[in-house]
Amino acid sequence: QWETTLALLKPDLLADAARVRAVEQEIGQQFRVQERRQIAWTRAQAEAFYAEHQGRPFFGRLVGYMTSGPFVALALAGPQAVSQWRKTMGGTRPVQMRVRNPASLRARFGLTDTRNSFHGSDSAETARRELAFLFGDSKIGRNWEHA
Ligand code: CMP
Repeated sequence: QWETTLALLKPDLLADAARVRAVEQEIGQQFRVQERRQIAWTRAQAEAFYAEHQGRPFFGRLVGYMTSGPFVALALAGPQAVSQWRKTMGGTRPVQMRVRNPASLRARFGLTDTRNSFHGSDSAETARRELAFLFGDSKIGRNWEHA
């Protein structure tokens, strides 16, 4: 099943250009990168993107983090791209991943449960919505319903 998913390289990772290059090189070996965009969100944009987490205890931290600096959004395509990217990233918690899945990107680059360096859509349905949110105005972005 050929899919497209949304990956974010979050602000803590963007602060280190060498790490960004290393990560993007690994990503390029595993996925076809259809879109790449560097973005800085307003508070309102971050709150809208993470609306499903509104009311969670970490919501304020999450929005503060995602508006702390620029990040990179990638549209990644490939077979089972949604689950493949989540596998490559590892789970939410970097410290736990260092034990359970040390090869994962979050184990290697993530800092804390909030500053975990990466995002990946959790389903094909979510991917379509998130890709439209980030790339909806681009040529490919208008075609996500076919992704
Ligand atoms: P992500 O899974 O991409 O989307 C939700 C984000 O909320 C998650 O990455 C973390 O950055 C943050 N988050 C999730 N759970 C926690 C938590 N327990 N404590 C702090 N931040 C969290």
